[in-house]
Amino acid sequence: MTNVLNLLPSGLVASGVQRAVYLHPTDHTKLIKVLKPSTIMPRRNNFNGVVDRWFPSTRLRQIRKEYTEYLRIMLNHPEPTFRAPMSHMFGFVSTNVGLGCLTESVMMPDGTLGETLGSKAKEGTLTDHHIDLLNDTISRLFSNDIRASDMNPNNFVFGHRDNGSGPGPEECVLVDGFGDIHAIPVRSMAKWSNRLGLIDSCERLGRNTKLTWHKDTQQFSR
Ligand SMILES: Nc1ncnc2c1ncn2[C@@H]1O[C@H](COP(=O)(O)OP(=O)(O)O)[C@@H](O)[C@H]1O
Ligand SMILES: [Mg+2]
Repeated sequence: MTNVLNLLPSGLVASGVQRAVYLHPTDHTKLIKVLKPSTIMPRRNNFNGVVDRWFPSTRLRQIRKEYTEYLRIMLNHPEPTFRAPMSHMFGFVSTNVGLGCLTESVMMPDGTLGETLGSKAKEGTLTDHHIDLLNDTISRLFSNDIRASDMNPNNFVFGHRDNGSGPGPEECVLVDGFGDIHAIPVRSMAKWSNRLGLIDSCERLGRNTKLTWHKDTQQFSR
């Protein structure tokens, strides 16, 4: 029999447009992301109906792209010193609220969830230190040719990841939106086309956070 993880409403710590994010019930280094049910689908109780309801094709496709990109990046960087700018992904778990994507958590030292770039920009609590952390991540996205199609400010989280013996250094981690989700996969065509895409995404990220994007140095400033 498959083990089904029981996720309680009290473990729900964040919610995006597509996914509900739960703390892992026994492992604080991990989160479980569950697709929100698509309530507009006509209800069919056969296998396809259930799959459609929980994984309508476009959403399924986005998740597939995210995992594909994760695999590509990790297989290209087997070196133990590689510091991934995106959160690690550990596959799937069955839960009482649907199929869960197991992912690395980005946390504060007090055990609460890290805050997003979006909420810090909105609150006006972004410091030079946060901008340095963001710039470090941006330069790793460029230098590792990572395809990040949705650089929404809410997809960057400040905090710490577990390094095997406790919380690692403070970082700004891309937790969602990587992978080439475009219908025509221009980002995957060549390094230069991904670079143009990343520049475009950074310009938009700058507009959405009221930070200035410097194309020449590929960095943000206030
Ligand atoms: N690995 C993570 N560590 C900390 N917080 C996260 C992590 N992943 C997601 N979150 C939080 O959950 C929110 C929604 O998650 P996200 O994966 O972006 O879902 P969606 O696909 O719905 O946009 C994020 O904006 C962020 O606040
Ligand atoms: Mg998101």
